[in-house]
Amino acid sequence: MEKDAARKRLRQLREKIDEHNYHYHVMDEPLISDADFDALVRELTEIEREFPDLISPDSPTQRVGGQRQEGFASVAHRLPMLSLENALNSGDLRNFVTRAMKLVPEAQLEFVVELKVDGLAVSLQYEAGLFVRGATRGDGEVGEDITHNLRTVKSIPLRLRKPLTLEVRGEVYLPRSSFLALNEERSRQNLPLFANPRNAAAGSLRQLDPQVASSRNLEAVIYGLGYSPALQPHSHYAALNSLKDLGLRISSQIVVLRELAEVVSYCESWRAKRAALPFEIDGLVIKINDLSLQKRLGNTAKSPRWAIAYKFPAEQAETKVLGITVQVGRTGTLTPIAELEPVLLAGTVVKRASLHNEDILREKDVRSGDYVIVRKAGEIIPEVVSVVKEKRTGAEEPFIMPALCPVCGTEAGRLSGEVALRCFNPFCPAQVAERIIHFASRSAMDIKHLGPALVEQLLDAGLISDIADIYTLSGKKAQLLALGRKVEKSVENLLSAIEKSKEQPLWRLLYGLGIRFVGERTARLLAAHFGSIDKLISASPAELEAVEEVGAKISASISEFFALDSSKELVYRLRGAGLKMSEEKENGAEKPLAGKNFVLTGTLSAYSREKAAALIEEAGGRVSSSVSKNTHYLVAGEKPGSKLEKAEKLGVSVLDEQALLVLLAKGQ
Ligand code: IVH
Repeated sequence: MEKDAARKRLRQLREKIDEHNYHYHVMDEPLISDADFDALVRELTEIEREFPDLISPDSPTQRVGGQRQEGFASVAHRLPMLSLENALNSGDLRNFVTRAMKLVPEAQLEFVVELKVDGLAVSLQYEAGLFVRGATRGDGEVGEDITHNLRTVKSIPLRLRKPLTLEVRGEVYLPRSSFLALNEERSRQNLPLFANPRNAAAGSLRQLDPQVASSRNLEAVIYGLGYSPALQPHSHYAALNSLKDLGLRISSQIVVLRELAEVVSYCESWRAKRAALPFEIDGLVIKINDLSLQKRLGNTAKSPRWAIAYKFPAEQAETKVLGITVQVGRTGTLTPIAELEPVLLAGTVVKRASLHNEDILREKDVRSGDYVIVRKAGEIIPEVVSVVKEKRTGAEEPFIMPALCPVCGTEAGRLSGEVALRCFNPFCPAQVAERIIHFASRSAMDIKHLGPALVEQLLDAGLISDIADIYTLSGKKAQLLALGRKVEKSVENLLSAIEKSKEQPLWRLLYGLGIRFVGERTARLLAAHFGSIDKLISASPAELEAVEEVGAKISASISEFFALDSSKELVYRLRGAGLKMSEEKENGAEKPLAGKNFVLTGTLSAYSREKAAALIEEAGGRVSSSVSKNTHYLVAGEKPGSKLEKAEKLGVSVLDEQALLVLLAKGQ
């Protein structure tokens, strides 16, 4: 074949294949048989083999790149990837609507209701129509680059039907049938099974080698826009349809409703229908359709005020209690656990369920040998709902909570006013392990490679015995290398991750210390308020309670924590190791707009430009006069002029005045 003829035929074939892919994946109505489609791909492959220089990166043969990745690069999301608040019943939905109606009283609300597919959120970036980057949600601000794996997902087009630059958000998931087939195959090969389709999808996307993801039949469905100034739809529904026209796969189950009652009954109708779906859903998502209303409603710290997830009540199953054991948590709490005959619950194999504490254990009267109803509520570990007393034979044995900690043997006791039994030995190995695991975890200090298994191994080998010891590991390289092949390979990565964690912001450290009742959000508030750990330590109860959301309970817990000699010593050693113990005030790191560069243009209505600039600077942002690639936001008023053009060219986010006010209020 002549090269020119080959070029021409390749173009024809690619166009045909793209068209058939579109009909198959997006329209769900294939025009030709699989065999005919395969013949087209085969012909394309053969011509490409003969003329390798004619292969284009978006060719259907190029989904699996040759290279195994070295690791995952970070991708900063231009717009945060938020999560959703949950509604568990119609009352919660009503509250959601009432709140929205208060904020936009004059509007007639319209709702889009979609399925909440249970997979992994991803962000997909297209440049001039080409798929260039795909990332996980990560912590919502920064995710991991998994382009190599997402390219293998056939329902993600490598090229859009128009050369647009945009970012979309969606869910990657594994259909039930593929999940079952995968686990069957793994069982044959004696490999550990995946607990549910969601974990299997996550595992597939976290592979360095794209061959693995490619073999897993992952699917993608797009449910929204990310940073996409090229598209200016008026409604969410219109946005989804434009995405469909561009060749992106959206759900075939999307409805627009106006009445709350209709929304509730539509959601309820899925309760029975969900089992028949070829994939798992954990609820529905209700979104306010009008995008200008969405913008006005804005977001809370974690989730939008214009959308909510309607979660189905947890699924239940019956199984037998094989025994009752006691688990010791990070704060020393002794939790009775029912060890169960494995049972399938909401797509997960359940082997253990929490009995919470001695009072509940007594109240429910769960005995070893009992048949029980177990329930799974969201992400939380399953719990025993009730005992099937009719099935008792008389051979069941009541359980008595141990007087001693089952891990260290110290006498267990209760804090006044608490039902939970506790081990008060701060050196109890169970607590130590859990504390270190928490400290290193992604939501706290985010020390990559230092997961639960390695923490246990390091404790067993005597290389660490508390949190501060993590920072002595750089001096114990030889011992680390001796831990076996698996550790050996990652020692350098581990040590550099540990080193990097010293720079983590103060709130992560505060959260990582594991002070009771100090969750991620409280840690952020405390760090922003006090600015340094020393100020926090010396704060009086009244000063602590001056912090938003901190009441007597949290304040007492913080004071108790820092009153302990062991805590003081821990802070002293962490400081000595070089950890950051304060926010850098000079660049306003604790302020909501810290590190963000703004440019103002056009006439603003609520404030003068000077006043707006002052407000931005007060919130920690910087205002400069010209747009560059370092600009994060252009605030455009009336008659914006050439700065707007430049910003659009550079892909800088453009805010109107309203959006600036929201940003100043919320600081995102
Ligand atoms: S919208 C800002 N729509 O549910 C709102 N999410 O907790 C972004 N999900 O992380 C989410 N189906 O992974 C939206 N139709 C849908 C969804 C959906 C599944 C997931 C998504 C998100 C989580 C929300």
